[in-house]
Amino acid sequence: MTLLAVNDVSKRFGGVNALAGVSFGVDEGDVLGIIGPNGAGKTTLLNCISGLYRPDGGDIRWEAASISGMAPYRIARLGIGRTFQIVRPFPSMTVRENTATGALFGRPHGRLQPAAALAEADEVLGLVGLGEKRDYPVLRLTVPDRKRLEVARALAMRPRLLLLDEVMAGLNDVEVEQALQMIRRVRDRGVTIVLIEHVMKVIVGICNRALVLNFGRTLVEGPPSEVLKDKRVIEAYLGRRYAQDQQPPPRSHPEGAGT
Ligand SMILES: Nc1ncnc2c1ncn2[C@@H]1O[C@H](COP(=O)(O)OP(=O)(O)OP(=O)(O)O)[C@@H](O)[C@H]1O
Ligand SMILES: [Mg+2]
Repeated sequence: MTLLAVNDVSKRFGGVNALAGVSFGVDEGDVLGIIGPNGAGKTTLLNCISGLYRPDGGDIRWEAASISGMAPYRIARLGIGRTFQIVRPFPSMTVRENTATGALFGRPHGRLQPAAALAEADEVLGLVGLGEKRDYPVLRLTVPDRKRLEVARALAMRPRLLLLDEVMAGLNDVEVEQALQMIRRVRDRGVTIVLIEHVMKVIVGICNRALVLNFGRTLVEGPPSEVLKDKRVIEAYLGRRYAQDQQPPPRSHPEGAGT
C-alpha cells in the first residue's frame, strides 16, 4: 500500500531550484534511502514532506490525501515523524524529559498525560540504546548519543513513517553498526522509513530502495545494489564519495555542517 506519494514537487529559493520536479512513492514497510551530493535538495525534500516548507509546485499525498502546505504539527499528528540534520535538544532537560516532549505533543489522538509520556519515553529510549542514560542532562551526551536522542524524540510520537536526516554523520564504524541495528529494530516494529544518508554501507545494509537526487531532480531510483552500480550515479556522486569513505570520519563532526 502506498503511504506517501510525492508528485512533481518543486521548491525554489531565489534563483536556486532546490527541487525541480521530484516524484516517488513510499510503500508501507519500505526503507527508502535518499542519497546525492551536497546541495542536491535532500533536506529540502524532507522539509516539504514534514511541512516546514510549502512546495512551490506539485503535490504530496499521505494515504491519498494531500498534505502539501499543511502545518508541521498537523503532519506530525498524521503519523509522519522526523529528525533534523542539525540536532537541537532542549539543553536544560534530561534525556528522558526531552524524549517525553515528543510523546506529549506529537500524538495523533490527543495528548498523553505526563506519566504516560515518560513511560513512552522509557520504552523508545530502550529501543535506541539510551535506557541507561535516561537521566543524563542532554549536554552530557556524545554526538552519537545525541543522534539516538533525535530518533527517540521522533519515535515517541509513534510515527508510521519516520524521516531520518543523516543520523549517521560523524559516527565511526562501530557507531554506524550500532545505529544500523537501531534502525533495523525500528523497522521491525513496523515503521516505514525514509532516510538521507551519505554512508553507502547504510544504504546497502538496510534500504530496499534507493533514490539519487542531483540538482533537485531524481537521477536514478531502484534497488540499492543496482543504483550504486549505475554509471550516472558514480559520475555525479559516488566517485568522489567512495574515495572519501576510505578516510576515517572526523571525530568532531561540526554540528550544523551542511545545510
Ligand atoms: N532555507 C533556505 N534558503 C535558501 N536556500 C536554501 C534553503 N534551504 C536550502 N537551500 C538551498 O537549496 C539547495 C538544496 O539544499 P539542501 O539543504 O536541500 O541540500 P542537501 O541535499 O540536504 O545537502 P547536504 O548533503 O549538504 O545536507 C542548496 O543550494 C541550498 O543552499
Ligand atoms: Mg541536507
